[in-house]
Amino acid sequence: MTSPTASPGITRRQCLQGAAASLLPLTAKSAATDHITLRFSHVVAEETPKGLAAKHFKTLVELRSAGRIDVQLFPNAQLYGDHNEIQALQLGAVDMVAPSLSKFGRIGFPEFELFDLPFLFNKLSDVRRITQGPLGQRLLNGLRRQGLVGLGYFDNGFKQMSANRPLLQPADFAGLRMRVQASQVIAAQMRALGAQPVNLPFSETRRALATGVVDGTENPVSNFWTQRMHEVQSDLSLTDHGYLGYAVVSNQRFWLSLSVADRSLLDQALQEALAYGNTIADSQNDNALLALSAAGTTHVHSLNASQRARLRQAVEPVHSALTKRIGESWMQALQDALARSIPGKP
Ligand code: SIN
Repeated sequence: MTSPTASPGITRRQCLQGAAASLLPLTAKSAATDHITLRFSHVVAEETPKGLAAKHFKTLVELRSAGRIDVQLFPNAQLYGDHNEIQALQLGAVDMVAPSLSKFGRIGFPEFELFDLPFLFNKLSDVRRITQGPLGQRLLNGLRRQGLVGLGYFDNGFKQMSANRPLLQPADFAGLRMRVQASQVIAAQMRALGAQPVNLPFSETRRALATGVVDGTENPVSNFWTQRMHEVQSDLSLTDHGYLGYAVVSNQRFWLSLSVADRSLLDQALQEALAYGNTIADSQNDNALLALSAAGTTHVHSLNASQRARLRQAVEPVHSALTKRIGESWMQALQDALARSIPGKP
């Protein structure tokens, strides 16, 4: 077991909690009848696609194990935030996390940033060509390099741009400080639009918007609404310029210490929860947009085809400029996967 020494991004107190917590599943798993506690931490609100998928997972697991496996959910970054949740997982302080795909680059997996390429996907079925194919599996397998087990993908949806002015064409972004996730592709996208990217954890974004540390941001509407960003942003522009999705990750030590039967129970429940998450993601974003319109605080702007084309043209160079970071072979595999048709899918 990792010794409880503080390391960057995680405090000594959290580290000690982590070491103590990691003892729980290891001691509890010695017999098939023993109680297992699985701690699932994430950074968003409960009423988001991720929050609801996590709840569904908890319900399925506790039902099927007749309560023997206890899934504890820690939403809203209440235990760990973007900067330390993966580290907490590696230390055994939690057993499962579901970071956005944009957050794997900074921990040594820049190939995951291919999902951030602007205007890459036209619809969610395009995303499936990656996440449900060999490329998606290879990406998950690579996580083993850092003692992580990638268990599956799921959607939030397409991102929209917000600020205190409409963002309908590249000139509208000039000089804005835009909060971004820790992805160099997203940072390059904002620079290509003439904005200055500012990397901040999700949990700090609303406050940064409220205090003027940043001027705007991008996110699917469900995240925008549940963080109450509508109270501090007057305009939301429906750009659909990029995708936000997640990978569910466990700690290899924890995962391999489970019995084969428990691993299979958890994996089955998780795959069902992820499928459920995908079925509700669109409606969660649609409902959030309705609620936002009803709140009346934020003007919602649709883009016409030529406005969207101008944004697309402005960020097009990001694809070639970031090829080296993502990796030539990953980019080639991406193009191949997108070109391949999936039987029965449009
Ligand atoms: C998330 O949905 O997990 C957070 C996305 C973000 O950091 O913008």
